[in-house]
Amino acid sequence: MTERVVVQSLRGIAVCAPGATAGTAFFRDQWGLDVVPAAQPGTVYFRGTLGEQWIYALRDAAYHGIDYLHFALVDEVAVDRFHRQLQADGVVVGAAPVRLATPGGGYGFDAIDPDGRRLRFSSGVACHPETADRASRPRKISHVVLNSPDLTRMERFYCDVLGFRTSDYSGEMMVFLRCMSDHHSIAFNKGPYPSLNHVAFVMPSLDSFMRGIGRMKTQGQAPAWGPGRHGPGDNTFAYFVSPSGFVVEYTSEVQQIDEVTHVPKIWPRDQPDAMDQWMTAGPPPTAVRAVMQGRAEAAWTQQQLVQGERD
Ligand SMILES: [Fe+2]
Repeated sequence: MTERVVVQSLRGIAVCAPGATAGTAFFRDQWGLDVVPAAQPGTVYFRGTLGEQWIYALRDAAYHGIDYLHFALVDEVAVDRFHRQLQADGVVVGAAPVRLATPGGGYGFDAIDPDGRRLRFSSGVACHPETADRASRPRKISHVVLNSPDLTRMERFYCDVLGFRTSDYSGEMMVFLRCMSDHHSIAFNKGPYPSLNHVAFVMPSLDSFMRGIGRMKTQGQAPAWGPGRHGPGDNTFAYFVSPSGFVVEYTSEVQQIDEVTHVPKIWPRDQPDAMDQWMTAGPPPTAVRAVMQGRAEAAWTQQQLVQGERD
């Protein structure tokens, strides 16, 4: 039996909102990303300091939420095999893999997860030349947290179908999933409907994490929650709200998982110093919790996948 194709990494996420691209200055001048030149009106692509072509995109659209999550596969043969594998698994997939028109090109296809999110799987996207870390500039997407009414269903799909592994649980409220050594690239948070909770950008060090917070503060952007250090993942956190109303996080020092020895555990939610190790952040304020709940997102349909649009 040939081995199953599995996801290698989370490349990034594209989000949609009315007037989303008006937030370009926030992400470039305050958040610390660079704009990737693209001939695509109504969409702005951003990169971090590592080689990934783009890690975050803003698209002007009538609806507010995720456009798609973008995952890397090992090579183009794997892309073709994964398309067939997902079809055999009964997953709703779009048309056969094509050359991608997004910056960096590549070869990929779209599919829909059980909550109705659009996922893109690709290989061969051109990388930028490696650049040196710049203090307080994000390297890449660390993780995306998604709200879902059914954590078990999502954990099973991401693990059994896409090849993720469970790293930890936070009570019955969250499950943390990895596809590489980072403690989590995707996490699910229990919520009333599928939506985007937040997107985290990793900084090169604890010092640059704090300097990034300082840059935001001096420009009038105080953290909505944090700084602090989480229990699960052991990563630092500081959450901000973007101009389009999406929560974004600076993080650093994410726990690296040893596949051989790691055993997932259920972190208690009633021990404050297990949730907030430094005890600097306290529980999330009501206002940020409301933004993290996101807005209910309509499920994608196969026809929309084939068209590549839903509005
Ligand atoms: Fe996070």
